[in-house]
Amino acid sequence: MHKALLELDSSPLGERSISRHLTHEFVEVWKAANPDGYVITRDLNTTVITPLSATWIAAAYRPQDEQTPEQRDLLKLSETLIGELERADEYVFGVPMHNFSIPSVLKLWIDQIARVNRTFSYASGKPEGLLKGKKATILMSSGGRYDEGTALASWNFVEPYLRTVMAFLGVTDVTFITAGGASAVASGKIDRENFFQPILDSIRAQFHPAT
Ligand SMILES: Cc1cc2nc3c(=O)[nH]c(=O)nc-3n(C[C@H](O)[C@H](O)[C@H](O)COP(=O)(O)O)c2cc1C
Repeated sequence: MHKALLELDSSPLGERSISRHLTHEFVEVWKAANPDGYVITRDLNTTVITPLSATWIAAAYRPQDEQTPEQRDLLKLSETLIGELERADEYVFGVPMHNFSIPSVLKLWIDQIARVNRTFSYASGKPEGLLKGKKATILMSSGGRYDEGTALASWNFVEPYLRTVMAFLGVTDVTFITAGGASAVASGKIDRENFFQPILDSIRAQFHPAT
C-alpha cells in the first residue's frame, strides 16, 4: 500500500505565508522519505465551507441509513473532507495563530470533520476517536513567542485546542513544530532564511532523528 500524506493549509497569505512555506518544505522532505507515497492537498482558503446550520446538524446526527437524499447532499463536503483524513496515513497542518487561536477557516473545517459515528463515537458510553493509527505534524506560525515556561505560554490556545480535537478524533501521535516570533521577519529584524533555518532543521529531524 502506498502511503498518503494530507497537507492542509489555512493561512490566507498565499506566497508570503510562513506556515505554507513550512508545509511545502515538510511535503518535500516527506516525499523524499516516501518515494512511492502520494500527497492529498486541502487548501482551506479556496474551499468554501459554510458555518453549521440546524439542518446540517440534524443531517449529521441522523443514522446514515435513515438520511434523506437532501441530507446526504448537505453532508457531501463533510464526507469528502473526512474521506481525506481516512485515506491519509499522515497529516501536516499549516496553522497561523490568529487572535491567539486557530484561523476561522480551520474551525469551519473541524466542524465538518468532527462527526458522530464517522470520526468519533459514544457507542461504548465514553468518547472514542475513530481515526486510528494516524500521525500528525502541526506547523504553527505566530507573530509572538509562546514557548513553554514563558509568560505568554498560556495565551497560546492553538496547541492545547488542536491537541484536544485530535485526541478526541483518535489522533494521539501529534508533533507540534512552532515558528514563533515571525513578526521579526515582517519588520526586517531577521531575514527569512535565518528565521526558517532552525525550524527546517526540526522538520528534517522528524525524518532522520539523531541517534
Ligand atoms: C488576523 C491576524 C491575527 C493574528 N493574531 C496573532 C496573535 O494573536 N498572536 C500572534 O503572536 N500573532 C498573531 N498574528 C501574526 C501571525 O500569527 C503571523 O504573522 C504568522 O506568521 C502568520 O502565519 P502565516 O504567515 O502562515 O499566515 C496574527 C496575524 C493576523 C493576520
